[in-house]
Amino acid sequence: GKNIVVTGTASGIGKRTAELAASMGANVFSVDRNTPENPVGHFTPADLGSPEGVQALIDQLPSGIDALANVAGLSGTPGAVLTIAVNFLGLRGLSIGLAPKMNQCGSVINVASIAGFGWRPNVEKTKKAVAVEGFPNPEQFCKDHGVTEENSYPTSKEFLLLWTYKAAHDPVFKDRNIRVNAVSPGPVETPILKQFRDVLGDERVDSDIARVGRAGTADDVAPSILFLASDGARWVNGTNLACDGGLEASVLAEAM
Ligand code: NAI
Repeated sequence: GKNIVVTGTASGIGKRTAELAASMGANVFSVDRNTPENPVGHFTPADLGSPEGVQALIDQLPSGIDALANVAGLSGTPGAVLTIAVNFLGLRGLSIGLAPKMNQCGSVINVASIAGFGWRPNVEKTKKAVAVEGFPNPEQFCKDHGVTEENSYPTSKEFLLLWTYKAAHDPVFKDRNIRVNAVSPGPVETPILKQFRDVLGDERVDSDIARVGRAGTADDVAPSILFLASDGARWVNGTNLACDGGLEASVLAEAM
């Protein structure tokens, strides 16, 4: 089996992705800041919102990793600084830092969101933010790049999507033939959805769900993540796979 690292495995999409990978015979290294009751595979607790936490995790993981599924994420409710630190800076730091421990033809999968699809109108701001290397102080980074309490969630996913496209051609990954792709869910029934409801309002979330008949489940999303981790996706690089039951298509078609 392949060696796969999955983050965010204490809950929701990350938990289901780790379980599905294990059931398919993968050797799973599961990661979360919360320790689950029944962790899947080899569990390592880690805070992915700080450079120290990210480095400690990299040091503890073995070499020979085939895939990294970056699923851990925050809704914005815990604050802009933490949200940008986990959803973008920590995720990117882990991916770059783990690359030397990854096998040839490996795969990095970033769970973004359809909430991040608005990066094009903000492309200049997004490019500048993504060009900042390393793990800058997240508070200063938010100030410098227009990340506010109101926009931190979509902005973190916009930065993540643009970075995914860039990373697919970054020698850090490309020289090792590591593919970098994103999966973007629409509304999914996990604990984070309650927080999106609080921020966006039930009306907005329910109307999105009504467009496609139901909310997604973690079971709906995990196979898309594992497809991109698989050899069957060997010619898929730098893409963003919407996994939203057709929600984005419905919004786009209506706008045309
Ligand atoms: P969830 O809240 O059920 O799970 C997120 C997990 O990430 C939790 O176990 C949490 O402990 C972990 N995490 C948060 N901060 C961390 C940190 N600093 N270090 C380590 N682990 C940390 O949410 P869900 O739905 O499973 O979300 C997974 C991903 O999917 C997130 O990136 C989210 O933004 C994305 N997503 C979810 C949608 C939804 O409606 N559920 C919609 C679009 C995207």
